[in-house]
Order: sequence, then structure tokens, then C-alpha cells
Amino acid sequence: MAALGGSRCRLKTLAERLGEWQRLLLRRSIYKRKWASTRPRVPSTQLALQSLDMSCDPHLGRLWPSVRLSLLCEQKYGALLNGFGETERALEQLQAQQAQDFVYEAGRRGQVPKPGPGGKSNSGPEPGAIHDLAPNLQTPESGPEPSVLSGDPAQESASNLEMKQSLLISPNLKCFTFPRGDTTRFKPARPDGLRLLEYYLMDAASLLPVLALGVRPGHTVLDLCAAPGGKTLALLQTECCRHLAANDISSSRLNRLRKILHSYVPKNVCTEDRLRITSFDGRHWGEIERNIFDRVLVDVPCTTDRHSVLEEDNNIFSRLRLRERQMLPLLQTQLLVSGILATKPGGSIVYSTCSLSQLQNEYVVERAVDVAETEHDVELRLEDLTDIRTLYGDTFNFYGNCRVGELVLPHLTANYGPMYFCKLHRIH
Ligand SMILES: C[S@@+](CC[C@H](N)C(=O)[O-])C[C@H]1O[C@@H](n2cnc3c(N)ncnc32)[C@H](O)[C@@H]1O
Repeated sequence: MAALGGSRCRLKTLAERLGEWQRLLLRRSIYKRKWASTRPRVPSTQLALQSLDMSCDPHLGRLWPSVRLSLLCEQKYGALLNGFGETERALEQLQAQQAQDFVYEAGRRGQVPKPGPGGKSNSGPEPGAIHDLAPNLQTPESGPEPSVLSGDPAQESASNLEMKQSLLISPNLKCFTFPRGDTTRFKPARPDGLRLLEYYLMDAASLLPVLALGVRPGHTVLDLCAAPGGKTLALLQTECCRHLAANDISSSRLNRLRKILHSYVPKNVCTEDRLRITSFDGRHWGEIERNIFDRVLVDVPCTTDRHSVLEEDNNIFSRLRLRERQMLPLLQTQLLVSGILATKPGGSIVYSTCSLSQLQNEYVVERAVDVAETEHDVELRLEDLTDIRTLYGDTFNFYGNCRVGELVLPHLTANYGPMYFCKLHRIH
């Protein structure tokens, strides 16, 4: 009996101990959960910097410390003059501040000659005559664009010349910047007598994809990821678009685009036949409207590196957005392929991001070209953008070592970008 009593006693203590363990385990899991939720959170901006350190250090090498520092310093802006408004007062004010129209200045220095008969060039235009180039060019109505695969050197030089001209054609684009090293800020734009704002402040490097697109009079243009609308506004400012389709998947961001148009563009320019605003998933655009557009801009969602190292708000490096971030190159490729399919043979596509990442830049372009060729039998040619780099090299700090396309690197004396852009020509 005593032995039974002893073993009962042992059983009881065992049960008590088990209960204690259970309670302990429970308490531990509560603590663990609490520990997890109170663990110091690494800011997304820091995660962004760590990620950039890992990818850019090997990619940009000794340039990275300077680019990194510039990313963390104040960004420079450009003032895109609103050609739809009364420009005199704004022009006077900008010139009085020593700001210069970098598009015009580059053209003046570039001295791009007008094509003579047979593609031979005449003497260069007078300084300031760049804006007269537009009427001399072929419009889509007046004939096809020259073949780029002719193998005929005369024709190829003509096509090169035309490429150079299309860079300068945007006759009505005027974007003012302060000289290198000058960190003066632009004053906020005021409404003019027509109640339109005088200029639009933007990262001046954002204009480069629009300039590279080389829109010519009469073109039908698609801006596949258009919101909040800086580049759409620039495209409208060229006054070359016979029809512009501005699309974005986000209806709230499209509202921002509408507000911009309301503040900068007269109603008679925003008519339905000239401007169409839609909210589709751009990945499927090429399935619906195929072979339609002369020019397509694919300014994709990306890691927006400058924003990501500075702002916690809406930061794609937040742990909660890891999957979204990992899927970006796929989304970007799908958007670019869709843009390629929407372009008509003979037309051109510009792909752009504001990221330094090769995975989102060169790799996406190479993959999209491959997909377009193998899966859709579309032949493309990569456009050489050296001329852009040469023309605008005084204003921007170009990387110059991209396998494909061009990359503007932030620099303390010219703190624009990052801005990557690449141009493709659709052969068939
Ligand atoms: C870099 S922003 C475009 C900036 C714009 N081009 C500008 O200059 O103001 C990328 C845009 O792509 C849009 N986007 C994301 N996924 C998309 C999709 N599947 N189809 C169309 N637009 C998409 C986003 O809503 C975002 O507005």
C-alpha cells in the first residue's frame, strides 16, 4: 500500500510537472510572440541601402560611393516650361535666375545638320534653328521611315542622321535646369493669365526617355504606365502626337494625372480624339491593340531607388512587399513585351526605370527582346543612344558602361536620376 501511495504521489508530481511545463511553454510562446512584435524594426530605407550596397558595389565599382552619397543628398529638378500657357513671364524669371533650357542648349551645341537630297547633310543650322527642324522631317503620312537593315551605307547614314534629328525634334520641349554644381531651387510654379501653371517641376533626367522616343508630327503614341503623368505632359508638350493613349493600372494615380492635365493643358488639347486615358493592366495591351502605335513609352514600376533610400512611406523595400519586389523584373518584362507588340512595324519603343538595378534594366530588355522574337516572331533592333549621351552629357552624369541602353547616375554636381532608358526599333 505504501508503495502504491508512493507511486501515486510520484504520478501526481509528474502530472504537476507536466502542467508546469505546459504553462512554461505557453508563457514562452507568448514571450516569443511579444519578442517578435517588439523586435526593433529595420527601416525600409535601410533595407533599400543594404540591397543597393550589395548590387551596386560590384556593378558600379568605385563609382558607387559617390552615387550612394548623391542618392542621399538633395535631388535636382528641372522646370518643364508649359508651352500651352503664356510663357513670357516664366521665361524672364527663369533666365533671370541663370537657369538654361538644356534641350535647346544641347541642340545648339550639337549642330545637327539637316538632311540634303540622298541623305547627305547640308551645313548645320544656325544657332537657335533647332526648333525649325520639325517641318523638314517626314511625317508618318508622307512616307515610311527609312529602312535600318538596308546594308546600304548611304541609306544607313541617312537613318543615323534621322535618328539624330528625331532626338532634337521635340520642338516645343523646353526644360530649364541650373548649371552643374548650382543647387538653386526653382520657385513653385504660378498660374498665368490663362490659369495654367507656368512650368512643371520634375527630375530633368525623366525627360530623357521622352526625348529618346523621338516623337514626330502626326505620331500615334502609347504611354503604357503613365501616372502620375510627368512624361505624358512632356509628350503633349511636343505637340507632335496626333493621338496619345495614356494608360495606368492605378485609378488613384490616374486621378493625379488628370489633375496635372487640368493644371497645365487647355481643354481643347485634351479632346477624346487626341488624348485617351485608360486604366488597364498594361501587360495585356499588346493582345488588344497590336501593331498600332508609332511610338510606345514603357516607363515601368520599379524599385524607385532614390525614393526608397529616403522615404519610409510606400517603400517597396518594406518586408511586407518582398514578394512584390521579387516579382518586379517579371512584371517589367511582361509590360515591355506588351509595349513591343502594341508598336507597329517601323515604330519604336522606349523602356525606362528610375532604378540602378541591372536586373530591372538591361536584363529586362534582353529578356523581353528574346521573348518577342521567339514567342511572337517580332524582330527588333537596339537603337544606339550614344548621341543622346553626347548631346546631354553636359547636364547629366551618364554611366556609359551599360550593355544596352543608357543610365544617368546621380552625382553631387548634377544630382538627377537614377534614370535608365533603352530604345528598340521594331523591324517587323
Ligand atoms: C514609374 S511609374 C510611371 C511614371 C509616369 N510615367 C510618369 O512619368 O509620371 C509606374 C506606373 O506603372 C503603373 N503600373 C504598375 N503595374 C502596371 C500594369 N500592370 N499596367 C499598367 N500600369 C502599371 C503604376 O501604377 C505606376 O503609376
